[in-house]
Amino acid sequence: MTDLREPVELNDGRTMPRIGYGTYKVGDDEAQEAVEAALATGYRLIDTAEMYGNEVGVGRAVNGSGVPREDVHLTTKVWNDHHGAAKARAALEASLERLGTDYLDLYLIHWPSPKQGLYVETFAALLEAKDEGLIRSVGVSNFLPEHLEQVHEGTGVWPSVNQVELHPYFNQPELRAWHAERGIATESWGPLGQRTGSVLAEDAVTAAAEAHGKSPGQVVIRWHLQNGCIVIPKSSKPKRIAENFDVFDFALGEDEMAAIDALETGERQGIDPASGER
Ligand SMILES: NC(=O)c1ccc[n+]([C@@H]2O[C@H](COP(=O)([O-])OP(=O)(O)OC[C@H]3O[C@@H](n4cnc5c(N)ncnc54)[C@H](OP(=O)(O)O)[C@@H]3O)[C@@H](O)[C@H]2O)c1
Repeated sequence: MTDLREPVELNDGRTMPRIGYGTYKVGDDEAQEAVEAALATGYRLIDTAEMYGNEVGVGRAVNGSGVPREDVHLTTKVWNDHHGAAKARAALEASLERLGTDYLDLYLIHWPSPKQGLYVETFAALLEAKDEGLIRSVGVSNFLPEHLEQVHEGTGVWPSVNQVELHPYFNQPELRAWHAERGIATESWGPLGQRTGSVLAEDAVTAAAEAHGKSPGQVVIRWHLQNGCIVIPKSSKPKRIAENFDVFDFALGEDEMAAIDALETGERQGIDPASGER
């Protein structure tokens, strides 16, 4: 059985931790403290984005934490108004500057933004930056198979990671299988499924939490890991930041996994990437 403490091997020969700290809605002023707490807890993957407006605080935490830079896997993302080769390159340089680092471990195209029709060109520009050593791994976010196919057709490369909405209410088994066939790692955003409805109050989750003496949040994070997904829960609370990382001393049984899988509704909580709204 896979040791879930061990990093995931990516299709470009690099590796990536399976659990990270997400920073959406963590303001720049609180990001430094929150990311410092995450690093002190043991997280070694930090997920930000130019759109989150907190790269300065995240960078301060990473650079001031005492954890060697090479031990931290740092992700950021190019926003939709920076698609196209020149704009993406400028956005990358600006993110590096704000983060106070000279390379990213993973750079993602945040949304395919299909109406612009520039995501293949953007991906190609990121591959060039990878060749120059500014990025270790190139990935995407919110891409559907049709977008991934276009990227592969245009560049001959499958992204290393696709970060997508994924939680028990929308658990995307077909997409996960499609990714696995092509060596693309699946990374779950919104993993706790809290945007509409409450995954954490579902019987399947609370029963497993009680059985293992863990919290509902820990059960859902463990469910992602056992499904082979990279997971990046966010909390602004130090207690929960620690709690969400403490998921390696228990395992969900097949029945428990199946009961959580059965919460699937087929409904997204976020925007449909096919709509082109983003
Ligand atoms: N690529 C994309 O388009 C995209 C979109 C959305 C998110 N993301 C990334 O994915 C990360 C995670 O997604 P997310 O922030 O939307 O949602 P999430 O991590 O699923 O949920 C965060 C919410 O759950 C609460 N929470 C955290 N731990 C908890 C626990 N143990 N028990 C109960 N409640 C808990 C948090 O509240 P408190 O802060 O009060 O604890 C917060 O309200 C983001 O931070 C971001 O890095 C990417």
